[in-house]
Amino acid sequence: MNPTWCMAFPTGYETGTYLALDMGGTNLRVCEIVLTDEKSEFDIIQSKYRMPEELKSGTSEELWEYIADCLQQFIESHHAGQKLESLPLGFTFSYPATQDYIDHGVLQRWTKGFDIDGVEGKNVVPMFEAAIAKRGAPIKLTALINDTTGTLIASAYTDTKMKIGCIFGTGCNAAYMENCGSIPKLAHMNLPPDTPMAINCEWGAFDNEHKVLPRTPYDIIIDKDSPRPGQQAFEKMIAGLYLGELFRLVLVDLHDNKEVHIFEGQNIDKLRKAYTLDSSFLSLVEEDPFENLSETGDLFQNKLGITTTHPELELIRRLAELIGTRAARLSSCGVAAISKKKGYETCHVGADGSVFNKYPHFKQRGAQALREILDWPAKKSSKEEDPIEILAAEDGSGVGAALIAALTLKRVKEGN
Ligand code: BG6
Ligand code: GLC
Repeated sequence: MNPTWCMAFPTGYETGTYLALDMGGTNLRVCEIVLTDEKSEFDIIQSKYRMPEELKSGTSEELWEYIADCLQQFIESHHAGQKLESLPLGFTFSYPATQDYIDHGVLQRWTKGFDIDGVEGKNVVPMFEAAIAKRGAPIKLTALINDTTGTLIASAYTDTKMKIGCIFGTGCNAAYMENCGSIPKLAHMNLPPDTPMAINCEWGAFDNEHKVLPRTPYDIIIDKDSPRPGQQAFEKMIAGLYLGELFRLVLVDLHDNKEVHIFEGQNIDKLRKAYTLDSSFLSLVEEDPFENLSETGDLFQNKLGITTTHPELELIRRLAELIGTRAARLSSCGVAAISKKKGYETCHVGADGSVFNKYPHFKQRGAQALREILDWPAKKSSKEEDPIEILAAEDGSGVGAALIAALTLKRVKEGN
C-alpha cells in the first residue's frame, strides 16, 4: 500500500503539453500529450519501443541508457530542428516504489520477471535524470507514477464515477483514492485528514505468506523458479506473465505421469522449455471457434511439434479455461476488497493491460465473480449496468502521467 503523492482527481480543465514515458513489463512507450482547452479533451502522439528481453536482466546503466535513447529519438523525430523549452515529463514506472514525494521513488523490488542489479533500494529518479542530462534533452521529470495510478487518473478525467484503476496485464495491480487521515504510514506528517492521496495497492504481493489462498504444485514451481521467490504470490496466480507457464507446467506434469497417457510416444522437448508459451497462446486455445478444436490442434502441431488426439484437445481447452477463470475470479476479489473497504456501492473501475483487453472471457468472468462476491441481485435485463462495472480505460497511463504532471505543477504553483 504505497502512498503516491498524487493528491487530486483531475477536473477535466487541466491544460498544457507534457511528455509521458511508460515503462511497463513488455513495452516502452513515449507520448507527447496536449491537454486542450476543451473539457477532458487531449491530443496524443506516441511511439512504442519493445523492451529487449536481455535488458530485463542486464545492468542498471543499460536500462537507463536505453530509456534515454528512446526518449531522445522520440524528441528528434517529432521536433527535428526546433528549439524546445524544457518539457515536463510524467514517468510511469510500473514497479513498487516508496515515494517520499512525487518526483522520488525508491524501488522496493523488481516484479514481472525483471532482475536488474543495482536498482532495488535506490531512488530511480537521479539515475533517469543522469542519463537524460548526458544527452542534454530538454526534459524535466515532474512526477513518477505507477501504471495503476495513471489508469485511475486518466479514467477519472472522462468519467467522474471512476474510483479504482486496475492493470490486468503482464502484472496485476490497482490504485484507489484514500484520505490522508486513514493512512497510518503518513500519520507523522500531520496532513489534513480529508486530503486525498492515491494509494498504489501493489496487490500482486497479497498473501506472500500463503495464509489465504490455496496453491497448486504449479504455483509453487512458478514461484521457486522466478527471479524473486517468495514475492508477488497473488500476481503469480493471475497475471499474464504466468498464465502460459502455468498451462505448460500442468501439461508437462500430466505427460510425465504414466497413469495419464497424454501426448504418448511424442517428443515434448519444445514444451519442456520454461516460458515457451505466453498468455496469447492460451488466448488462442480459448478462442478456438471449432467444435473439433482444430485450431488448437494446429497450434500444438506448429508451435510444439505435438500431434494431439480429440480427447487431448478437450483436456487442453478445459485446462486453459480453468487457468483463465481462476485469474479473472481472483482479480475480481481485489476489486471487491477495495470497494468494500471504501464502502463503494456503485462506481466504475478503469482497467487496462493485455489480459483485460485481449484475453477471451476475462471481462465476463470477472464481472460474474464480482456479482457473486458482492452478492448483487440478478439483473433484470442484460442491458442493466452492474453497480460496480469494470470498464476499459481510455488510454492507460500515457494521459494519466500527463494529468498527474499537470496536477503536480498546479499544486507546486499553489504552494501546497
Ligand atoms: C498499458 C499502460 O496500456 O498497459 C501501461 O499504458 C501498463 O502503463 C500496461 O503498464 C499494462 O499492460 P501489459 O499487458 O503491457 O502489462
Ligand atoms: C506489478 C508491479 C506493479 C504494477 C503491475 C501492473 O505488479 O509491481 O507496480 O502496477 O505489475 O503493471
